[in-house]
Amino acid sequence: MKLLFIGSRLYDDIDWYVKSKDIESVLTESNENAINLDLPDLVFIVPRGMEGPKQVALMQNVDAVVPLIGIDPPLIDVAHMKEELEEEYGIPVIAAGVRAVELTSDKIKTKGFYTEIDVATPKYQILDSPDELTIDFPVVLKQGEGQGGKDIKVANSAEDVEEYFNQFDHALCEEFIEGAEISIEVLGFNGEYVALPPIYKGETTLEGTHPLNKTKTGPCMVEGLDNNLIQHTAYKVAKNLDSDGIFEMDFMYSRKNDQLYAIEVNTRPNGTRYLTTATCGVNSLCELVNMAIGEFSLADISDKLQYFYSTEIPIGNYQGPEPKKPVKSFEANDFVVHGPEGYQRVTARAKSKGELEKLVEKLT
Ligand SMILES: Nc1ncnc2c1ncn2[C@@H]1O[C@H](COP(=O)(O)OP(=O)(O)O)[C@@H](O)[C@H]1O
Ligand SMILES: [Mg+2]
Repeated sequence: MKLLFIGSRLYDDIDWYVKSKDIESVLTESNENAINLDLPDLVFIVPRGMEGPKQVALMQNVDAVVPLIGIDPPLIDVAHMKEELEEEYGIPVIAAGVRAVELTSDKIKTKGFYTEIDVATPKYQILDSPDELTIDFPVVLKQGEGQGGKDIKVANSAEDVEEYFNQFDHALCEEFIEGAEISIEVLGFNGEYVALPPIYKGETTLEGTHPLNKTKTGPCMVEGLDNNLIQHTAYKVAKNLDSDGIFEMDFMYSRKNDQLYAIEVNTRPNGTRYLTTATCGVNSLCELVNMAIGEFSLADISDKLQYFYSTEIPIGNYQGPEPKKPVKSFEANDFVVHGPEGYQRVTARAKSKGELEKLVEKLT
């Protein structure tokens, strides 16, 4: 089997798996100084965009393409390339298609989609000026596009909204949900979907602190909230998106209203994946490879499922014990260190909460 990977930044997460499967690896990257270029069998530096990767896929006669792109902007080009390579050349591209990307890359379109498929989402308004606001404070102001909390503000007063409009001429305005933040990964391929265990990412704050900066735990254990409800809702969203690859979804749970709300969907590798793997043993990036080589199945996922208590802690610069090889995997480790220097995080797992506490003490 010969696979084309697009983007090197996440490649060290799966290099060990690609090698263990005896896959011939070709990789395209647009930045010649990027990390991990020494790992694949063959590397092509191509201009930004998907024309280069498409040409390499054809020229190298690969069996399938696995985009490893962790940011939103290129996803629509990937989706168009998927349609072309699959329809005209019969080369599978393990990624979301055009409709799924269009619905999920714009938070305003996503809101409409949730409503259409009858999934609860926080009450919202599209504002073209501050005086149109009718939802009670606090409210959350967002732009259609953005990730990592970019262009998001919690407004407590009319002045806050005015201030936001100094920078933007419209806003998606949502009621502020006080409660638990939850993420979940769903894997989808050929019309089959599996929702992995949900992850708890802390409580919402009036400062709008992004979960990137909080301690997270798996599996999600929020009193009053049934994980089956989260998994079922996530499954329903993914099935209606009707596409391939990874779907990471954000939810919030209001204890006061006993209501689960859908917030957003990301159709790409995402920051929840280390905790998902720690918690249940299924690694979403490895599953993309399995989809590409014809080894993905729901039965196989069921066979792999494990049960661990896990946590992920922002740590800055990790100075604890060395992990065993492969270092970015839970195969031989009970912890994984990831992220760029200064912003590293450690994800750890154990069979009981007590053991997990001891392990975290050793690592931090
Ligand atoms: N309706 C809301 N109520 C409370 N907090 C919110 C709400 N919407 C967003 N937030 C906060 O802002 C963060 C980022 O919002 P999100 O819509 O997930 O955008 P991003 O793509 O930047 O992750 C959330 O994780 C949460 O902490
Ligand atoms: Mg989010």
